[in-house]
Amino acid sequence: MTTATKGSVGTAHTRVEGRDKVTGAARYAAEIPFAELAHGWLVLSTVARGRIRALDTEAVLRMPGVLTVLHHHNAPRVDNDYVGLLGVPPDPSVALFQNDRVVHMGWPVALVVAETSEQAREAAEALVVTYDQEPHDVAFSAERQAEAYPVDGHAPGVMEKGDLEARLASSAVVVDAQYTTPEEHHNPMEPHAATALWEGGRLEVVDSNQGTSWVAGELANLFSLDPASVRVRSEHVGGGFGSKGVRAHQVAAVLAATVLQRPVRVVMTRRQMFSLAGYRSPTAQRVRLGADADGRLRALEHQSLNMTSSVHEFVEPSAAASRAMYDADAHHTASRIVRLDVPTPTWMRAPGEAPGSFALESALDELAERCGIDPIELRLRNEPAVGPVSGLPFSSRNLIACFREGARRFGWADRDPRPGVRRDGRWLLGTGTAAASFPAGAMPSTAAVTAEADGTFTVGINAADIGTGARTALTLVAADALGVPTDRVRVRIGDSDLGPAMIAGGSTGTRSWAWAVTAAAEELRQSLAPGADIPPEGITVRSNTAEAIGALAQKERHSFGAQFAEVAVDPATGEVRVRRMLGIFAAGRIVNPLTARNQLVGGMIWGISMALHEEAVRDRATGGVYGADLAGYHVAAHADIPHVEADWVDDPDPDDPVGIKGIGEIGIVGAAAAVANAVWHATGVRHRHLPIRPDRVLMADGDA
Ligand code: MOS
Repeated sequence: MTTATKGSVGTAHTRVEGRDKVTGAARYAAEIPFAELAHGWLVLSTVARGRIRALDTEAVLRMPGVLTVLHHHNAPRVDNDYVGLLGVPPDPSVALFQNDRVVHMGWPVALVVAETSEQAREAAEALVVTYDQEPHDVAFSAERQAEAYPVDGHAPGVMEKGDLEARLASSAVVVDAQYTTPEEHHNPMEPHAATALWEGGRLEVVDSNQGTSWVAGELANLFSLDPASVRVRSEHVGGGFGSKGVRAHQVAAVLAATVLQRPVRVVMTRRQMFSLAGYRSPTAQRVRLGADADGRLRALEHQSLNMTSSVHEFVEPSAAASRAMYDADAHHTASRIVRLDVPTPTWMRAPGEAPGSFALESALDELAERCGIDPIELRLRNEPAVGPVSGLPFSSRNLIACFREGARRFGWADRDPRPGVRRDGRWLLGTGTAAASFPAGAMPSTAAVTAEADGTFTVGINAADIGTGARTALTLVAADALGVPTDRVRVRIGDSDLGPAMIAGGSTGTRSWAWAVTAAAEELRQSLAPGADIPPEGITVRSNTAEAIGALAQKERHSFGAQFAEVAVDPATGEVRVRRMLGIFAAGRIVNPLTARNQLVGGMIWGISMALHEEAVRDRATGGVYGADLAGYHVAAHADIPHVEADWVDDPDPDDPVGIKGIGEIGIVGAAAAVANAVWHATGVRHRHLPIRPDRVLMADGDA
């Protein structure tokens, strides 16, 4: 019944929901209408540590439209003592209103619910809360290393091979440098928003998240519900970057919907997101490299410190990012945490790799300078045959191909290696490069593909399209597996009733979902007899990839990339402008070049933003973030961004049915180091602390 068509995977395809998005027909979580909708507004603490002494709810309950005020005296109890879907207990920060403790500035202390959002906000702002304040400590710095301890996050905390001190002592060249990166916030365009309601004994939540199975599972645990009685939907998502998991807004909405027995919507404000949405911890890193005079590494040490809250451990595994990159006889990596009175940090695009690559790839550039070797040549000399620490074979490793292609297109061969010698009027010019890598993984997922009686196909996969183009990519994948053009395929995503599937996270979403879709589609295609009648209800085949993924051999599985940047630095004002940027990636088979380029360029732009602009400054007096909004926290805007080009080399994953590796995160990896290395080349000054602000450039002191 199907006719062979030219493959869709690998051809540019505009977003299948693009028209809906640009015409406004696509509705985001806070825009979907509900009858009898009530609005909740979160009240956040104004102290960073202590106990709630009193909430003056009387006056607020008399205000127009106010329906209830939920707080620790009257909120339903939740169960926060379980092992969550990610294998660890949930962050107690989502067990809202369970006791009087305040553990960070901006901690949720109450929810005011009213008939309108405006009434809820006015009442929430009028609610007087008094506290028994306790001294707090939010002072993160490298000096906190003494009280830090290693934790296994999604990578082991500590891995050590060989005698580090001995190898450093016998090295001809040693680089020993400290790097820091600041607290950074995700700032997705769409704020977190959820509406909860009870419908026929089921809890329904319409939300903006990165995985509805995940959020539904955590809500079922928190509220002690049968997982089958929780449904979470998330149709369109305006960015997530790691911040859109289980958060205060969904829990607050469920609490209020339970008490009021009507739909309740809770939306975070941009300011609230600075304490409720997670963030990337600041890091303090030390890298020591020991090498022979020809640049061959003998010792590699990468230590990283990050902060976490007083109630939950989260490690930003920056040192772990070094484990697959370069070999050395002695290879020590450790990521540690220190507990402070701050919100719990969380995953943010390339957690670990983004800040870790800044330190490691800057240190490599310093080593190249000290050895008098071209930075690309230095990396070629240290290319490992197998995993440097694991000893496992690489599934594929095309880092060198990325550097070769990137160097050719960027014009690297013409580069004068001396710093501070190129000028364009008042501007000092420089170029820099850095390597990128990110793990390539797949996680078990289920999918259903239905052959409809009208000759079309419906794919049901609980994917999340957080702006990545996943819905479109899966349409192309399904079309090829079914052997039909894309206009005969419709893909349904973002609904926990579709069955369990991987979240949009860890750069594993599209690969994991495509695997499940391909498995179901291929089986369906084989089972359909040519010309056979399809019954009105269609013919459905379901898949579950758990077994196939479980059978994958242990290997080092990564994407790689080479980042190149050219910068201009004005020594009179300290201004740094990126003039052009090129990233060449080896990141598996590219499903949709259009959205893939979008995704990679987006990551690189965020890398420029990380290098030059982004910095959340925590006020030691109040414990909160200064200027917690998009005016105070500058994210790179159009005027900051030059021509950015991303492309790729052929690198199909040999163990994936479609050849995919995943491209969600690698674009940001190494990008900040390439910019910082270019700033050194322009000025002769190493900047080891991000962001490279004008004041730091003016002081011509990268260690300030
Ligand atoms: Mo990403 S930080 O895995 O959403």
